[in-house]
Formats: sequence, C-alpha cells, structure tokens
Amino acid sequence: MNVFIKTYGCQMNERDSEAIAGMLASRGYGIVDREETADILIFNTCSVREQAERKAVGKIGFIKKLKKQRPELIIGIMGCMAQHLGEKLFDDLPHVDFVIGTGQLHKLPEVLDSIIAERRQLALLTGGEEVLTSLGTHYRMTGTGEFQAYIAVTRGCNRFCSYCIVPYVRGREVSRDIADVVAEAENLAAAGVREIMLLGQNVAAFGLGGDTDPPPEGVSPFADLLAELNRIQGLCRIRFISPYPSYFNDKLIRTLGALDKVCHNVHLPLQSGSDRILKKMNRQYTAEKYLEIVAKLRQVMPDITFSTDIIVGFPGETAEDFNATRDLMRKVGYDNAFIFKYSPRSGTPAAEMEGQIPQAVREERNQLLLKELTDYTLAHNKTYLGSVQEVLIEGPSRRNPGRWSGKTGTFKVVVFKPAPETASGDLVNVKIIRSTAATLFGELV
Ligand code: SAH
Ligand code: SF4
Ligand code: F3S
Repeated sequence: MNVFIKTYGCQMNERDSEAIAGMLASRGYGIVDREETADILIFNTCSVREQAERKAVGKIGFIKKLKKQRPELIIGIMGCMAQHLGEKLFDDLPHVDFVIGTGQLHKLPEVLDSIIAERRQLALLTGGEEVLTSLGTHYRMTGTGEFQAYIAVTRGCNRFCSYCIVPYVRGREVSRDIADVVAEAENLAAAGVREIMLLGQNVAAFGLGGDTDPPPEGVSPFADLLAELNRIQGLCRIRFISPYPSYFNDKLIRTLGALDKVCHNVHLPLQSGSDRILKKMNRQYTAEKYLEIVAKLRQVMPDITFSTDIIVGFPGETAEDFNATRDLMRKVGYDNAFIFKYSPRSGTPAAEMEGQIPQAVREERNQLLLKELTDYTLAHNKTYLGSVQEVLIEGPSRRNPGRWSGKTGTFKVVVFKPAPETASGDLVNVKIIRSTAATLFGELV
C-alpha cells in the first residue's frame, strides 16, 4: 500500500514525518509524493497558531470528495493538532479514519493494521509523555538533500511561555541518551550525510532532566553533545534549533566558539524587546541579558549571524513596547527573523489576558518589522561583496536551474554558476560579486 504524508509546522514535525515514513517503509509500505497515488493519507499537523490549524482543517476537509470517490482510502491526522483537538476532529471531519497524538506516533503501524482489518474510527491520544527513542529511522523525503539530516535530541517543552501551546500538545521535555544521538549521527555520516541539524523545542536544555532553571555555570550537557558530534568523521557541519536564550552559559558559548564544525549561525528566539512584555510572556530573560549573550557569542565567533522569532501584538503591547522590539532588532542586526502576529491559543494564560491587540495593529506592526528586516539584510549582504565564502552545495537553484545554490556556515544562501564537476554535498569556495536582501551571488574560485 502507498502512503502520502503531508507535514505542517516546524522542523520537529518534519523529523517526525521522516521517522513515520521510515517506520512504514521498513514494513513494506510505499512512500509517495502525490496524494492521487496513495491508499493512505497522513496529515502531520501543527497547532502553534490558529492559521496553522485552519490550513490543515481546510485541506483535510477538501479530501472528503476524494474519499467519496474512493471509500477504501484511509485518512489519518497526527501531530500537534491531533493532540490538541483529539476526537473532536471526527465531528468536523467524519471522513477521517484515525487521530494519533504526538506521544503515540510509534504506534502508527499497529493502528493501520487494525483499521485495515476492521474499518472503524480510532483515536490514540494518551501517554504523551512517552519517550520516543525508538524513532531513529531516517527516510529521505523528497526535497531534503541526501547529505543533510535532522536529528531530534529532545522532545516536548517545559518552559510554558504564556502564549504557547507547544508544552500542552508535545508534553513534558525529555532528552535522548547522548550515546543514541551520537550513534545516529555516526550512521548518518557513514551514509554520506555532511550536515546535521539538532532539533528540540529548547535544544540547549538537552540532558538537563527537564529542569526549568537554566544550568549553572560549567554545566551544559548540550555542549558535551556538540563536542562528541564534532569528532565524527565525514560530518562537516553541525547546526541546532531552537535554543532558549538563558541556556547560553559561558561553557556553551566557549564550546560553540571552539568546535570547528559548529556553524556560525544561531537562531535565538527573542519574542519581544520589551522587558515588560517578556515578563508577561514568561520568558525568563531581559533585553539586556539577551544582548549580553549576543555580544558574548560575537566575541567567540566574529562572523556569526543571528536569526530570531518575534511575536507582535502580544496582549498589552503598547507602541513603546513595540519600539523596544524594533530597537533591539536594530541592535542585534538579524539576518533573518520569523515575525508572527500573536494568535490566542485556548488554554494558554495569554489568551485570557486583558488588552488583546486589534488585528489591524498586529498587521501594521508585522509589516513594519518585515520592512526594517529587509532594509537591514539588504545593507548587510553588501558587506559580503568581494569576500570568499565556503559553501555547502545543495543543488540546482529553484529559480534558475542553470545556476546552483548552497549555504555558507552563517546560513547565507549563495547562488553560483556550476562547474562540470559540481556536485551536491561538496564544500566549495565562492567569491561574492552581487547581493540582494535574500541572496548572495558569486563565482567558484
Ligand atoms: N521552541 C521554540 C519555538 C517553537 S514555536 C522556541 O522557543 O524558540 C515557534 C515560534 O512560534 C515561537 O518562537 C513564537 O515566536 C511563535 N509562537 C508560538 N506561539 C505563538 C502564538 N500563540 N502566536 C503567535 N506566535 C506564536
Ligand atoms: Fe513554546 Fe516557549 Fe517552549 Fe518555545 S520555549 S516551545 S515558545 S513554551
Ligand atoms: Fe507546530 Fe507542533 Fe511544531 S505546534 S510548531 S508542529 S511542535
């Protein structure tokens, strides 16, 4: 039987989809990239903003027609929205056969067996705190390079930022064993993977046993993990996403600077530049503390680039608070930022707070930050002109197949004219001759 998997949401969800695909492929299922050729459709969903849920519900609703034509089709919902809405999904989407929560995804093969044997609706939602160490399978979905791989090192989140649904739908934070992660990375490297991206909702909390206080100075199991991974032959780049700012102690910062394979690009979610709003968000750092971490990281990696997540229009956000965010963004100089309009999630404390901001104001603030971000990256990318950058080749450029593209360690997209021997996964030097806000263009040297 053929399975089509559609993924919404973050890298953690993409990684889960790969693991699901790997699990099913090893049991003889075919993984296909078109729904028309599938016998089973799986939607791995996201709940982080209302928009994310609306998109998935709309798509799955649309599939109803397909199911009318082909009643034998099996349709399942997995991931965060499955966990969030549970059996209620059967009411709105009666053509759905199964709903599996985030902690139960390893049971998918059994669920499919049972649905194939006796067609009835099935929901599996409890036990969300189970560790999913068994999910080490890697299946290459179309679109991901053969030489890049995600490795999930933690699951869940214990931070409970007041706006965020993730701790409720992904459960308590658990870390995998360091030895398991290293073995997985070694296997991937032996299979030709050059770049790994370590994943976790709060990836720098790896190995801390779910403690919500950031570790004391001198303690960082995450730094220890990076040091182990840095030794693996064949790997040339290590990235990670997303670290919570307060977990960058001096030990971690020193380690990042010392390891040659760790990329000089950090995604450091800011959320807001106003201390008042950070406090209401239950983010346990101040703007000053955040800037101090940025400065320390710059000290050990002078060419480092930063990206971030920002929420505009959090309840009670005044013009002054918003300007504090603009100010902080200017001070850091982000090369990329994901700017989100605050979306109330039922069950989270922020949804009940007074001072909800009108949609039009959220939109206006969003547009302003996007514009300021583009202004900055346009100017910053010009500073790369004439420099030579080391680029990990990804493949033909999507816009212009006559050109190839890849990324620098600092996560800059570089487009260049390939040589006959140019191959994906190779490291090459490219001299930058032109730039836009999003891309550097260059020539092989
Ligand atoms: N664990 C990651 C973030 C996961 S969610 C971290 O803490 O960095 C990705 C981003 O979505 C968050 O950083 C936040 O900016 C945004 N987000 C989360 N909940 C949101 C909400 N209710 N409305 C708008 N944006 C939200
Ligand atoms: Fe959500 Fe905060 Fe956890 Fe990130 S750290 S997943 S924003 S609760
Ligand atoms: Fe969305 Fe779940 Fe990721 S809510 S952002 S898919 S952890």
